Amino acid sequence: MTDAAAPGVLASIDLSDNDAFADRVPYEWFDALRRDDSVHWQPERDGRGFWAVTSHADVVAVSKDWATFSSQTGASALEDLAPDALAARRSMIDTDPPLHTDLRGLVSAPFAVRPVRDYEGLVRSLTRQVLAGALAQDRFDFVERVAAAVPIKVLCRLLGVPEHDEGLLIDLGDQMIANTDPDLASVLLDGGESEQYRLLPFRTPAALEMFDYSRRLSEARRRQPQPDLVTALVQGTIGGRPLPRREIDAMFLLLVVAGNETTRQAIALGVQALIEHPDQIAILRSADDRGWRIAVEELLRWTTPLHHFRRTATRDVTLGQSKIAAGDKVVVWYTSANRDENVFHDPYRLDLRRSPNPHTTFGRGGPHRCLGEHLARLELRVLLQELLPVLPRLEPDGEPARIRSNFTNGLKRLPVRIS
Ligand code: HEM
Repeated sequence: MTDAAAPGVLASIDLSDNDAFADRVPYEWFDALRRDDSVHWQPERDGRGFWAVTSHADVVAVSKDWATFSSQTGASALEDLAPDALAARRSMIDTDPPLHTDLRGLVSAPFAVRPVRDYEGLVRSLTRQVLAGALAQDRFDFVERVAAAVPIKVLCRLLGVPEHDEGLLIDLGDQMIANTDPDLASVLLDGGESEQYRLLPFRTPAALEMFDYSRRLSEARRRQPQPDLVTALVQGTIGGRPLPRREIDAMFLLLVVAGNETTRQAIALGVQALIEHPDQIAILRSADDRGWRIAVEELLRWTTPLHHFRRTATRDVTLGQSKIAAGDKVVVWYTSANRDENVFHDPYRLDLRRSPNPHTTFGRGGPHRCLGEHLARLELRVLLQELLPVLPRLEPDGEPARIRSNFTNGLKRLPVRIS
């Protein structure tokens, strides 16, 4: 047993504590867990505890085996939801096949490799528009002016949301995904007030506003169809029946939150990483198409915008050295898998030439693998290509601020100046 395995050290780890992720990612915890207790029982202050799965191999195994590790009792919430809350809050990400297969089939076409390739022109022109606005100033908050602006603009175009509502959707999305940060959310997940919103996704009234918005837009599309995703949802059927209104709202909310906040963080943390590793910028300067693809994968591994997702065991099963009982919560930690030294040589080195790079940033294998992965890659690459001429002159302009969350790995502010 190494030092880290001393029971006291493992017992002091608390992955359920949002404060532990407020200033930095506690990578040393994940290193200790992978080394000494890779499927670790994590007691929770406000819950019944969960298994923390930390090795790359086990994260992949759990993600693939949906029959044993089900999403049906919630994938994005660590808290255990009562059946009424679960039924009210469920979206595609909280379902298993075959329902999951049907739901995903309704929205997957525009996110496939080929259609996404065709968005490059649109993404580039939206990115240029955003950068022109931001770079007109010498100093600005990179998160607000750039990283938050690009993904929502792209997503609004796909969904059919008019431009003047982008700000509203950013704000509502922030309140949901950062529901553990008092700076961003009016109702905190771990505060008493959230109890009255327990039937809403992320336990926040912002979800209600998002549902209202989705209803207004879907009514408009029912009356006048357009070539967009909301129209696909209102026209979509499962088993020959139209999609219920609740399912449309839940899918709308999922797409806005999943596609917006995550890509923002890949961009913000990715640019922060390049500011901190200027030697890597030279690699981008001389990169051909393949070089760019490789570089983007490494930035995705490095940034890992989502720390974890949750599953629930459907049967007794042994994983690693641990015996998991039916009904136990099982949490896969992408952050840990992406620093697994058995898979990534020198994992704490940012190496934009790293290849192969089987990171788990979008999940890996399994039915829930990120729907928007190709879009996210495109947005990150185009943003970096357009920013490249000024990237070497971008400097920190004060301390960045992180989101207090063990779910989102992200920045709420990244003040920069152009030297
Ligand atoms: C860098 C940006 C992104 C990251 C890090 C990310 C990460 C993830 C992860 C980890 C999952 C769960 C995988 C699993 O359970 O196996 C997921 C699922 C999902 N993502 Fe992304 N994502 C990103 C961008 C996007 C974008 C642009 C969209 C577009 C709308 C999107 C939509 C979704 C959806 C709808 C799901 C649920 C898929 C399902 O349940 O079948 N994501 N994403």
